[in-house]
Amino acid sequence: MTQTATYTEQQFIQDVKEVFASTPDAHSQAHRIAQHMQRMLAVPDWPESSIRAQGGGEPGSYILHKDKEQGHPAPGFVLLAYINEPRKPTDIQAPHDHGAAFVVYGIASGGTIQTRYRWEYSENLEEQPSLKAWQEIDQAPGMAAYFLPGEIHNTQRRTDQPTVYVRLTSQDLGEIWRHRYDPRTFSAHGFKSPDGPQQ
Ligand SMILES: [Fe+2]
Repeated sequence: MTQTATYTEQQFIQDVKEVFASTPDAHSQAHRIAQHMQRMLAVPDWPESSIRAQGGGEPGSYILHKDKEQGHPAPGFVLLAYINEPRKPTDIQAPHDHGAAFVVYGIASGGTIQTRYRWEYSENLEEQPSLKAWQEIDQAPGMAAYFLPGEIHNTQRRTDQPTVYVRLTSQDLGEIWRHRYDPRTFSAHGFKSPDGPQQ
């Protein structure tokens, strides 16, 4: 049996806790947690086995772990698993950030297109800045992708099959303010959402 095959969710959580305990640097934490998450995603039937263990299986979100001791910038990281129906072609998600937290997404089946945005400013202060998409990632099963504090992104799930994925946030997003951005007007609206799909 390979080392990957023996990796368990319990070990993954422990590795994440050790990352948080080892440094206060979110840049380093997110990168290292993404490596551990990819190792976890290589284990067949994860996170589906964990979802089934709590009686789940229907589309929705499932709490795999809420931590009281570790996180960034304060204790409280959260690991959720999701089963999402295929995205409707008309269903466009807005760009958003994750406040002071970072997020690591991992795809188990299905897939998403992750788009990164940045603000573009004119030198003329009479013009408001606009959001420009600058990177697209085709996130396939087995891949982790992370977004650092303040980063703006959006996700488009596949339209032809369900997507099963996990999301580790360095804080409980039900408790911190972040923003959603109108892709046409670039207006920013604060919100809190503990478990919205890929938000
Ligand atoms: Fe997000």
